[in-house]
Amino acid sequence: MVALREVEAPPATAHETKYHVAKGGSGSALDIADFNLWYGPKQALFDNTLSIESGLVTALIGPSGCGKSTLLRSLNRMNDLIDGLTVRGSVSLQGVDIYARSTDVIALRKRMGMVFQKPNPFPMSIFENVIYPLRIDGVRARSILVETAERALRGAALWEEVKDRLDESALGLSGGQQQRLCIARAIVGDPEVLLMDEPCSALDPIATARIEELIDELAGSYTIVIVTHNMQQAARVSQNTAFMYLGRLIEYGETQRVFTDPVAEKTSDYITGRFG
Ligand SMILES: Nc1ncnc2c1ncn2[C@@H]1O[C@H](COP(=O)(O)OP(=O)(O)O)[C@@H](O)[C@H]1O
Ligand SMILES: [Mg+2]
Repeated sequence: MVALREVEAPPATAHETKYHVAKGGSGSALDIADFNLWYGPKQALFDNTLSIESGLVTALIGPSGCGKSTLLRSLNRMNDLIDGLTVRGSVSLQGVDIYARSTDVIALRKRMGMVFQKPNPFPMSIFENVIYPLRIDGVRARSILVETAERALRGAALWEEVKDRLDESALGLSGGQQQRLCIARAIVGDPEVLLMDEPCSALDPIATARIEELIDELAGSYTIVIVTHNMQQAARVSQNTAFMYLGRLIEYGETQRVFTDPVAEKTSDYITGRFG
């Protein structure tokens, strides 16, 4: 895959094929194997082993504190920023160990867009927010920036709402629009994977429904991993679900099966609301 930022004047067809190329059904995008993680002396993840299927939506569910965000942040090495962190085991992206010494972490993170709980637009215009990653990469050609911004905003289902106000502050958008803007910024560099950590938890039901629709539209073009504490949401948006408890992966499989016919008693207790 050729990243747009590396191409000064790509042919029109390259543009057209960049987004919404179905990558689904082609095996695993991420392979997590015997993965353990400690914050200082405290172990937060225990022997997590699972493969995330390419082009599908995988939900990470489980009670608060069970390690969902920790596992998600392990996938693009966001945890590296934390002092006293130790990991053991491996995470591979398309077969390449992301924890290998030779891994270029900056390049790795570009292959994985990330969206956080609370929308975090920068205090700048809508346009500048979307193209921020390209600016950081030194892309200067105005025509490329304009075209790429439009494509990302369309991809994030926000274009129609903002096309006439691209130079206005992003902080003037509603919460749901801000989160879609953050999704646009996360996909502008054409990543392979989208990591979302409870992306709707700060949104009202209507904005939440809009984001869920968007996740549906993005699946196939991207491999999506979404953390959610909302089981209905997991059931609605994902094809596969991983249930975690106390840092361990308890159950993993097709979402419908996990919710209707869980194997582990703990999963059954959780999805029926016996604890949470
Ligand atoms: N930066 C950190 N330093 C120390 N402990 C942390 C840190 N982040 C999370 N933890 C701990 O790791 C465990 C898992 O947390 P987290 O991954 O945030 O869970 P979840 O996202 O499922 O709510 C919790 O016990 C939490 O307190
Ligand atoms: Mg969390």
